[in-house]
Amino acid sequence: MNRVFGPLLTLTLAVAGSADAQELDAGARFFKQRCQACHSLTPGKNSPAGPNLVGVVGRASAATDFKYSAALKASGLTWDVATLDQFLAAPAKLVPGTRMAIGVPNGEQRKEIIAYLASVTN
Ligand code: HEC
Repeated sequence: MNRVFGPLLTLTLAVAGSADAQELDAGARFFKQRCQACHSLTPGKNSPAGPNLVGVVGRASAATDFKYSAALKASGLTWDVATLDQFLAAPAKLVPGTRMAIGVPNGEQRKEIIAYLASVTN
């Protein structure tokens, strides 16, 4: 029996796993295109254009040594998945006065990018 179900199970797991991998892949590609010009995901590497985003999921807002806007510093947010989703959809709507000007209107893309951000930790 195992000879039949063993490979089948392996195949099923591989397919289930590749859905996640696809999401991360799409998120990584999207990050390169839309975020990397201003944000680094390399620990300790800072850009004058935006804060480092390593480990940002779950982190308090404005917690790196980047020169944040007064608005983001005063926001007191925690970047959990739901808050990040709201911020990325329309940054200035959640944090009026933020210096992050671009949003990601597509919810599917936000989901991919947040999954990718969550996968990059210190
Ligand atoms: C043109 C530059 C620029 C681009 C492109 C950009 N950002 Fe930002 N981002 C900023 C700046 C500047 C801030 C700090 C905002 C402030 O201080 O109000 C910021 C802040 C953030 C924060 C909050 C970080 C913290 O430490 O509190 C997150 C999360 C974030 N950006 C995610 C993204 C994502 C994801 C993308 C791509 C879809 C992106 N940003 C694209 C400039 C940019």
